[in-house]
Amino acid sequence: MEILIVGGNGGIGLAMVQQAAARFPHARLHATYRKQKPSWSHPHVIWYRVDVTQDANVKALSEQIEHVDWLVNCVGMLHTKEKGPEKNLSSLDADFFQQTIMVNTLPGLLLAKYFTPKLKRSAAPKFAAISAKVGSISDNQLGGWYSYRASKAALNMFLKTMSIEWHRMVKHGTVLSLHPGTTDTALSAPFQANVPEGKLFTPESVAKDLLRLIENATPQDSGAFWAYDGALLAW
Ligand SMILES: NC(=O)c1ccc[n+]([C@@H]2O[C@H](COP(=O)([O-])OP(=O)(O)OC[C@H]3O[C@@H](n4cnc5c(N)ncnc54)[C@H](OP(=O)(O)O)[C@@H]3O)[C@@H](O)[C@H]2O)c1
Repeated sequence: MEILIVGGNGGIGLAMVQQAAARFPHARLHATYRKQKPSWSHPHVIWYRVDVTQDANVKALSEQIEHVDWLVNCVGMLHTKEKGPEKNLSSLDADFFQQTIMVNTLPGLLLAKYFTPKLKRSAAPKFAAISAKVGSISDNQLGGWYSYRASKAALNMFLKTMSIEWHRMVKHGTVLSLHPGTTDTALSAPFQANVPEGKLFTPESVAKDLLRLIENATPQDSGAFWAYDGALLAW
């Protein structure tokens, strides 16, 4: 089995690489980072430096990897050094919105485009992306976080639409949108104050949950939006 984990240097991404190496000791793992290669290494993990927001980079990555069974995209952003998620309309900013879409939505499209021909050749291909429950339109009670919510809703729509094409063209494949729950990483660090007790998860426990979901998912589940505990989320 060969697994590609995109954004393998992130909080959840690195935990996914480490947990996949432990859970599937015979698998070959491919993992990407953007700037800084993690100091953690493993004999079965091959690292690639890739900016997955760039079409040419994703195309080049697909040309370096011969075979893939699972592709898991863990790339995402909520805030930058300069700007946090918007609390109100007056804080909307065109550049921040575009950057958020570029990081949270675009890589899924590029990865699907260049890796579907490879995944198609697997006996049981799986394409999973880490989304977020706040991308659910019907679950939105609080408002705010305009760019992040919109980018994850767009990602969800992309994954659902892709699952319909896969249902026709890659019938044995499974496409999943996954919500990790609030996880203790750099992304959530400034927003952890109000997380209820027991609801801030470690990257390791989230990675175990998400890998179990991916492993157990079948083509009948394709197009689902799942939380870490297997609960089906509303779009
Ligand atoms: N943590 C949570 O509570 C939580 C909750 C719901 C959903 N999520 C989702 O889970 C996923 C993983 O998040 P995380 O918590 O592990 O965050 P994280 O530790 O900040 O990791 C984010 C990853 O995305 C990459 N990335 C960020 N900006 C990028 C850019 N401009 N271009 C390319 N790559 C970029 C990072 O690479 P660099 O380090 O090189 O920038 C890193 O690999 C994200 O999609 C996030 O939206 C997280």
